[in-house]
Amino acid sequence: MSGFSDKEAMGAAWARLRDVSHLTLAELFAGDPARTEAMTRRIAWPVEPGSAAETGMRIDFAKTHLSADALAAFEALAQAAGFGAAREALFGGGIVNPTEGRAATHGALRGSGTPAQVEEAEALLARMGMLVEAIHEGALGEVRHCIAIGIGGSALGPALAIDALTRDLALVDVHVVSNIDGLALEQAFRACDPAATLIAVASKTFTTIETMTNAASALKWLADNGVEDPGGRVIALTAAPDKAVEWGVDETRVLPFVESVGGRYSLFSSIGFPVALAVGMDEFRAMLAGAKAVDDHFRQTEGRANAPLLAAFCDQYYTRLRGCQTRAVFAYDERLALLPDYLQQLEMESNGKSVTIDGAPVDGATAAVTWGGVGTDAQHAVFQLLHQGTHLIPVDFIASIAPGDDLDPAHHRILLMNCLAQGAALMAGKPSDDPARVYPGDRPSTTFLLDDCDAAALGALIAFHEHRTFANAVLMGINPFDQFGVELGKAIAKQIESGEGEFDPSTKALMAAAGLG
Ligand code: F6P
Repeated sequence: MSGFSDKEAMGAAWARLRDVSHLTLAELFAGDPARTEAMTRRIAWPVEPGSAAETGMRIDFAKTHLSADALAAFEALAQAAGFGAAREALFGGGIVNPTEGRAATHGALRGSGTPAQVEEAEALLARMGMLVEAIHEGALGEVRHCIAIGIGGSALGPALAIDALTRDLALVDVHVVSNIDGLALEQAFRACDPAATLIAVASKTFTTIETMTNAASALKWLADNGVEDPGGRVIALTAAPDKAVEWGVDETRVLPFVESVGGRYSLFSSIGFPVALAVGMDEFRAMLAGAKAVDDHFRQTEGRANAPLLAAFCDQYYTRLRGCQTRAVFAYDERLALLPDYLQQLEMESNGKSVTIDGAPVDGATAAVTWGGVGTDAQHAVFQLLHQGTHLIPVDFIASIAPGDDLDPAHHRILLMNCLAQGAALMAGKPSDDPARVYPGDRPSTTFLLDDCDAAALGALIAFHEHRTFANAVLMGINPFDQFGVELGKAIAKQIESGEGEFDPSTKALMAAAGLG
């Protein structure tokens, strides 16, 4: 990052990396009998706060093409990029988002930041906790449902966490609605009893058109269905509390968070209120504890031993040195079905950039396109291309050793067997006399094996990917914390609404056909 990096040394490190010879996975394993151990990391945390027993996740990078030479060259790149100083700035409240003149203090939400930031975050969390507990105790009357309205970073994290953690039980039935397409909101209305429904409006800016339109329609739905004080059923989750009050939310029901927490990094702030409402504050705090364990590992571990940094080495290797344009993530766990969606915003909105932090054009590809799905479903749909297609696609597999279901253990055994088999097959390949039956092999994967897919593990996975994204940005010299690329389309939508502005002939014709403008 600017101010931390030595540009000349970065150029030299990239030149060294471009000269690294590419060994096959078979050659890498043959050359180092201890490769699996050397390329496996474990991040652990206490089973419960204060407990000596630990649980955690194992991350196996052995089936990636990182050789000893590549690892050494990437460590030199990290040094030239000022990775250590950038990381200290991240946790120390330094300006790591220079285009907006901001720090990025999502770490402080789980206790990883300056004492003042952590204290402020803890106070806001305590306030959220009090409201959650008061609602559970009936302070707002009967609350069986919540429609949580938000979009992008104000929806994807809550949707993921609620889907992952409420398989057995939800204290409140939460429906996350993001799309402006009225069908989305109507579907939530059908599932909720208006007399027992809260509306949580989640928006960092409290100006996003989709969210504000959906929020107004939700209030109208309450009023149309006989709720006497619809405004009294609204909780606002925002970094712009004044705007929420102006919009009509009573101050006592505004849960703020700080401006320096980015939208896609905001799950652990008050944006997580619907999650806490659904699973309770203890589970929410367990999620924070898992994230904190990864923060500690990321802060305290150097070079290749640092798992998120090592993941970023893999990402850079494949996008910049092997020309891979995509990265796939397959969760072999229904509870993580929404993880690929979440990671898409985190990684693509953060690192989908074309200029460095100094405004110069980047000298290589930036974020890969993140995509993925759920195993084993995806095996029967898209894995053909992974095994025999012409694209080289690094794959992440994520699975939990402990099952989430109570059915015959055969279900979970078959799930895990398939997960491990896919990684092995992608790597080994298979020759054949029949060209149509050849599996080229030598295809990379990384496997995340969670001891259990619980709240702490989910928090850990999310923090892992936040730090992986940050480490990638540092290695490329770009700013992961702004997102100006989303603004132009919003501005043109406003012009279409007002009919003012110059439109190209194709858009003009489409506007006429759609009855707009
Ligand atoms: O348009 C992109 C974006 O600004 C995301 O970065 C953000 O997560 C989302 O919109 C929602 O913004 P807000 O929380 O301010 O409504």
